[in-house]
Amino acid sequence: MKYLTAQQIRETWLNFFKERGHAIEPGASLIPHNDPSLLWINAGVAALKKYFDGSEIPECKRITNVQKCIRTNDIDNVGRTARHQTFFEMLGNFSIGDYFRKEIVPWAFEILTSEKYFSLDKEKIYVTYHPDDLETRDLWIKAGLKEDHLIPLEGNFWQIGEGPCGPNTEVFFDRGEKYDPQHIGVDLLRKDLDNDRYIEIWGIVFSQFNAVNGVERKDYKELPHKNIDTGAGLERIACVLQNTETNFETDLFYPLILKTKELCNVPYDETHHMP
Ligand code: ALA
Repeated sequence: MKYLTAQQIRETWLNFFKERGHAIEPGASLIPHNDPSLLWINAGVAALKKYFDGSEIPECKRITNVQKCIRTNDIDNVGRTARHQTFFEMLGNFSIGDYFRKEIVPWAFEILTSEKYFSLDKEKIYVTYHPDDLETRDLWIKAGLKEDHLIPLEGNFWQIGEGPCGPNTEVFFDRGEKYDPQHIGVDLLRKDLDNDRYIEIWGIVFSQFNAVNGVERKDYKELPHKNIDTGAGLERIACVLQNTETNFETDLFYPLILKTKELCNVPYDETHHMP
């Protein structure tokens, strides 16, 4: 496995998309501006809603960012899984009425598997997609993913609060049987069972609808143009590339844990980090 520090992961991401015509947008404050529907910024796209709903025109239709996020709906999982945090950083790339499926799927495969970038073993990558979205499935196969690594899931529709939403495709990294004591294998994904074996590292949303509270999904209006909204978990990619048990042993957290241990003079027992 190629080892990258968290900072190298951020830079690899931003530069990959910059080379493909994206403007690098600085991450926004965690406190939303002019958005009474959100308590905190909860995704890279949350800070860019103004471009997606057409209320502002961006200078560049391709944007990449690293966005600080808080997801209150994840908080009950924190400390119970290897992969949930109160606060995290999301790596994103966005198309505002510019490219769509045909561009993002091969790019995703390239940044994940090419030796120049994250260099992940494609045998360990699994992808879910919406059952009606066969174009996405075919694009993943064309890019180089094996057919039996693709799993259709009805739940593959991304929405969080109001705003841009749509069908999505999710990328998982298989950390192996060590994290699957009952040897359930890929059924963990097919049956959408909670597990720390197949870690979701990236969600790619084909963002074409605008969610409004009180309106049923089937009645959501189409956005003025079709968009791409993606989000990859910095800490999860670091966990994979640094080959750690949980996000908390990556270079993002572990130096702080060690320093706290030293200052408090309390032992830190790596084997008991989960309740
Ligand atoms: N907006 C999508 C997410 O937050 C990419 O997962």
